[in-house]
Amino acid sequence: AMLRADATRLAGRRVLITAGPTCEDIDPVRYIGNRSSGKMGFALAEAAAAMGAETTLVAGPVALATPAGVSRVDVRSAAQMREAVLAALPGQDLFIAAAAVADYAPAQAAADKIKKTGESLTLALVRTPDILAEVAARADRPFTVGFAAETREVEAYARDKLVRKRLDMIAANRVGLPGLGFEADDNALSVYWADGGAEIGVAPKPLVARRLLQLIADRMEHRAA
Ligand code: CTP
Ligand code: CA
Repeated sequence: AMLRADATRLAGRRVLITAGPTCEDIDPVRYIGNRSSGKMGFALAEAAAAMGAETTLVAGPVALATPAGVSRVDVRSAAQMREAVLAALPGQDLFIAAAAVADYAPAQAAADKIKKTGESLTLALVRTPDILAEVAARADRPFTVGFAAETREVEAYARDKLVRKRLDMIAANRVGLPGLGFEADDNALSVYWADGGAEIGVAPKPLVARRLLQLIADRMEHRAA
């Protein structure tokens, strides 16, 4: 159950969240994408709105209903997600990058379906823009939280991303374990900030979302104090 105090914890705050995968088109019928249901990001948007925040959700292609009271912008590719995030960014107090953004995209999508001809096929891929790093590098940045999907050395890789991308906080999930992370209903997070950290134990994503937002609100209040 939600604590009574939670219902107003983010009142007057503006929160921007990315969620879901991005799809990078190869041709009109194929794409490169990440494994992501969008459930964690949508749970965060629902929880932020329930805690009183004015919440905007930039969502890649997912099959999920928009949480009550949340403004939603649908995008397909990393480039489109970047545009939508930068357009929504002015005036935000908190940015949470929960999307599983494709790291590489075809240099150019083919106009027509690629036919099966040779015995092998090589695609030329180029790096996508790092939306989270770009937001964090801005002078007018909001409190900025990233996710890290790691299969090993979770704390070391997550702390490296925290420093390298100049984040205020990072939430790491160990992917590849059965029943957790991508596409699952439950999750567990290891959360790190410059001078601390916390563990959020295995729980349904809505509860994990609530706990992460409580930690974020703690850190935002600590910084403002
Ligand atoms: N992210 C982003 N834009 C990208 C790639 C990642 O905004 N083009 C964000 C994700 O939403 C997440 C964080 O960066 O909050 C980390 O994503 P992750 O894939 O774990 O890290 P990368 O920096 O892409 O590094 P790698 O995949 O090599 O581990
Ligand atoms: Ca990545």
